[in-house]
Amino acid sequence: MNFEIAGKTAVVTAGSLGIGKATALSLAKEGANVAICGRDEGNLAAAVQDIQSQVDVNIFTSVVDVSDASQIQRFISEVQGEFGAVSILVNNAGGPKVGNYQTVDSQDWVDAYHLTLRSAVTTTELVLDDMKRAQWGRIVNISSFSIKQPIPEILLSNVMRMGVQGWAKSLSLDIGAYGITINTVCPGWTLTDRVKSMLSGTDGDKRQQAIIDDIPLGRFAYPDEIASMVTFLASQQASYITGTAIPVDGGVIKGSL
Ligand SMILES: NC(=O)c1ccc[n+]([C@@H]2O[C@H](COP(=O)([O-])OP(=O)(O)OC[C@H]3O[C@@H](n4cnc5c(N)ncnc54)[C@H](OP(=O)(O)O)[C@@H]3O)[C@@H](O)[C@H]2O)c1
Repeated sequence: MNFEIAGKTAVVTAGSLGIGKATALSLAKEGANVAICGRDEGNLAAAVQDIQSQVDVNIFTSVVDVSDASQIQRFISEVQGEFGAVSILVNNAGGPKVGNYQTVDSQDWVDAYHLTLRSAVTTTELVLDDMKRAQWGRIVNISSFSIKQPIPEILLSNVMRMGVQGWAKSLSLDIGAYGITINTVCPGWTLTDRVKSMLSGTDGDKRQQAIIDDIPLGRFAYPDEIASMVTFLASQQASYITGTAIPVDGGVIKGSL
């Protein structure tokens, strides 16, 4: 299938590792000009090397903490200067601090808002004029299966991601008339370095087996399996899909809808 996004500018925030990097690679394979950001310059350089070893593409990188709205603003104007108008935006970030209602404090709530919800809102608002002018745009949020089935001990993530979906659904009402779609992808357990290191501690094997036992497909996802859905939603072919939250979770969500 030709996704018809060759030559378009795609921004993937937090695109240096894991699901973000796999998404940047997948969009690059479709011929998009890709811009990624992250906090660590070394991670960004390694991502560029990895992606360019697989596809001949220009990649723009910038060191950005997406919790800081002014850094996002600087990043988007750098991308526009380098590649022109932004057509595709993938809102990704790391996960907020883990914990439950007894262990997170009021500053943790503020930090989680900045990292997960405000970053998506800020980045999106900065590219909407480009998309409106083109009468075409694709916005995809990387979320989690936790928006359909909360995960214990990640209270802040559970809450802020539901906020992202509430915002995305609301925004879809306003931007559809411009040919702009916004959707959310909800990964299940995905084998990224972060998850590998999370499962490398004491009882890691037992924890890993317990997770796998709960997944109907009997294994973790690979990052490129999440990226495939993001890339489809970013494509011309996904022109009639907006406001949705789509799990790519191996069946781990047990609800029917
Ligand atoms: N993996 C899973 O099983 C899974 C399941 C459900 C949902 N998710 C969610 O999917 C998202 C991606 O997860 P992942 O497993 O791919 O994570 P990952 O492998 O740890 O990658 C996270 C990426 O985000 C960047 N990043 C983190 N904090 C940032 C910040 N404040 N500003 C800019 N960049 C930042 C990291 O680069 P730097 O560290 O260099 O900044 C890195 O590129 C996360 O929100 C995660 O919670 C993951």
